[in-house]
Amino acid sequence: MILVTGGAGFIGGNFVLDWLRDNDEAILNVDKLTYAGNLRTLKSLEGDPRHLFARVDICDRAALDTLFAKHAPRAVVHFAAESHVDRSIYGPAEFVQTNVIGTFTLLDSARTYWSGLDAGAKAAFRFLHVSTDEVFGSLSESEPPFSEVTPYAPNSPYSATKAGADHLVRAYYHTYGLPTLTTNCSNNYGPYHFPEKLIPLMIANALAGKPLPVYGDGQNVRDWLYVGDHCAAICAVLARGTPGETYNIGGWNEKKNIEVVHTLCDLLDQLKPKTAGSYHDQITFVTDRPGHDQRYAIDARKIEHDLGWKPAETFESGLKKTVLWYLGNQSWVDEVQSGDYRKWVELNYAQRAG
Ligand code: NAD
Ligand code: DAU
Repeated sequence: MILVTGGAGFIGGNFVLDWLRDNDEAILNVDKLTYAGNLRTLKSLEGDPRHLFARVDICDRAALDTLFAKHAPRAVVHFAAESHVDRSIYGPAEFVQTNVIGTFTLLDSARTYWSGLDAGAKAAFRFLHVSTDEVFGSLSESEPPFSEVTPYAPNSPYSATKAGADHLVRAYYHTYGLPTLTTNCSNNYGPYHFPEKLIPLMIANALAGKPLPVYGDGQNVRDWLYVGDHCAAICAVLARGTPGETYNIGGWNEKKNIEVVHTLCDLLDQLKPKTAGSYHDQITFVTDRPGHDQRYAIDARKIEHDLGWKPAETFESGLKKTVLWYLGNQSWVDEVQSGDYRKWVELNYAQRAG
């Protein structure tokens, strides 16, 4: 069994689905179900004995200790986090709590459990921490992409808390020998992405006839990776990564935000034409994000060379898949946006350990 945190979120949810599609090994999914956690994503797993769910906060040490003792996982894959940069600007406390204190609590609970294992199980154990390229700060147009040795320079409360978590993971390897792995990935997109992030927000707003809010001049650059490719990279690092190492993951797909929005409008014009006009007409430039990082880019040569991973999707193929998924799953977005899903969680899901 592997223990996955944040497995009801965007990337964690895709990871759980992909893992159970490809493996018999069970998953213990530990998630607090914040606004971003959505069990509807995992509906197809209802009744599947390989998926155990525990609604637990990763800051809850006693609950984590109980889960480790009861389920004896051979590995942890840690996705749980507060993930949205804009929310971190207006409310950083939750980010410090979950991303720093939560990661520390999980690491320390894992270390206690791991230190009681026999020598073979100890050596085979893995703690994989899923992190972001945002810890490296912002690049100018002419600078080379982030590599594993780029110094940390986080600029938002979100990236600062992820950087703090990365350093704790590093320290647990060096100080205690806990076999940790860290991945730093670029911007993901794909199915089940919460409609507050650029791509799903633009699709949802376009279909609802609302403005498409582009921050600043739209010239900021992000490196995009299809979520399934990120999940495959995590599996490669879990299986073949060297403890103590970090791996950068990216799609070699640098795009300006405005290009991404135009491409989405082109796709929607083609796949779901409006009765009059084009989705491009809805694009609106709005006030910039405070401290907005100019450019992220990832040098993914280490994971490609050492672990033989490469993305399967191009930006064009991945984006088309994504738009088609949103067109076919409007009810998933409606439930998230209307608040119906939250009401269901609060009514039906009492806090409990799996
Ligand atoms: P998300 O916001 O969609 O999901 C986060 C999940 O964590 C949710 O299910 C939420 O309920 C859960 N969670 C939050 N606080 C928790 C707590 N205290 N205890 C237990 N569960 C909690 O995030 P995402 O976009 O899927 O990102 C997952 C991870 O990947 C994060 O660590 C993020 O930093 C990292 N990452 C994201 C991207 C991206 O583009 N989305 C890129 C690189 C790295
Ligand atoms: O780089 C990896 C990171 O990517 C992850 O660590 C984060 O968890 C994830 O949220 C993402 O962060 P970004 O800030 O890059 O993603 P977001 O979708 O919020 O924004 C992408 C770009 O689009 C960014 O330059 C801001 C811009 N933007 C965003 C929104 C929501 C807009 O122009 N308009 C918008 O409405």
